[in-house]
Amino acid sequence: MSAADRSVAGASAAPLERTLPSSWYRRANVFKIEKERIFCREWIGVCREEELPDPGDHRVVDVLGESILLVRNREGSLRAFYNVCRHRGSRLCKSPAELAASTVALPGGITAGRMIVCPYHQWSYDFNGALIAAPHLSASGGFKKQDFHLYPVGVESWGGFVFLNLTPGEALPLAAQLHGIPDRLRRYPLAALRIGATMSYEVAANWKIICENYNECYHCAGVHPELCAVVPSFRDGGGADLDWSRGIPHRDGAYTFTKSGTTSRRAFPGLDADEQVRHKGELVYPNVFLSLACDHAATYILMPRGADRTDVACHFLFEAHEIDKPGFDPSDAVEFWDLINRQDWAVCEGVQQGIRSRVHTHGFYAPMEDWNLDIRRYVTERIGAFVGQEPP
Ligand SMILES: [Fe+2]
Repeated sequence: MSAADRSVAGASAAPLERTLPSSWYRRANVFKIEKERIFCREWIGVCREEELPDPGDHRVVDVLGESILLVRNREGSLRAFYNVCRHRGSRLCKSPAELAASTVALPGGITAGRMIVCPYHQWSYDFNGALIAAPHLSASGGFKKQDFHLYPVGVESWGGFVFLNLTPGEALPLAAQLHGIPDRLRRYPLAALRIGATMSYEVAANWKIICENYNECYHCAGVHPELCAVVPSFRDGGGADLDWSRGIPHRDGAYTFTKSGTTSRRAFPGLDADEQVRHKGELVYPNVFLSLACDHAATYILMPRGADRTDVACHFLFEAHEIDKPGFDPSDAVEFWDLINRQDWAVCEGVQQGIRSRVHTHGFYAPMEDWNLDIRRYVTERIGAFVGQEPP
């Protein structure tokens, strides 16, 4: 046996790292623990700042069944609250979909951009969550309005993304969660970029499967032939030697993620020489992905809807002056990404289907999927002790 043969034999004999248990990707009770220990305690991305530009602008965000009211106050700052009246617990505001489905017109909600009024007994709150008025209750009767502030939710922004924290009393600052990401992306004008297009997807897969797929390129050669035509290095060694810190090189003559590898848009000013021709990616735990080309960003906000279902909002961000140009057409990037996205969702859904099998107790990570050891650690640290207390 030659040295090369021995090394191959040795490599194949080496034990592969195990994935999380398959049950963690499919069980409703594990999803419930993830809701409490991850999505209600970490900062989670929910939208872009530009989607609520003016005082009074608001949206109802469903975070794994918790209805959150996000509003821009009169001073221009974002505030968020549980969408629950402090009086009897009524829902304060309906989402557009809930309004459309409603057969009864009730008063209340956000009124004329001035306050939040409960549709039940008309308790009203300002955009900082303070109770302004409760009909027929007065201080002379011992009623103290300051005792009835809306339940707060943390709001912070970075890079133009709005993040919420549903347990703000125990939350670290967003910056502590982002670690080195802002520094690594400091030359990209993320906060100033604007949404040029959005694709929304409903993926029949657990959110962790989608994260794991984003974190490895072992699958790229087989699943993404069109992408590999622009980025041939995705085929090399299953993506084992990709240098994400420096950026991924394109084929000669290509410098961005479009079918042709080129675009009429300019590169963001201020990028270094590598960033002008290479591609970078970041996974912002637990639910935001950033894919950065020299002229656009493809960004993903995951919102789990159940153990086996995840909504994904994919925003394509561009410089405002590009969007404002007559005839602005983002389709060179959008159509290319949409193809890649659909390929990814298809394989993720295939995993979700496969791991339902009674024989599959866990999978394995190949060495070139090492980044997923980080996801395994991240999830295990947060829910491991709690899942152990659950019935199988
Ligand atoms: Fe992929």
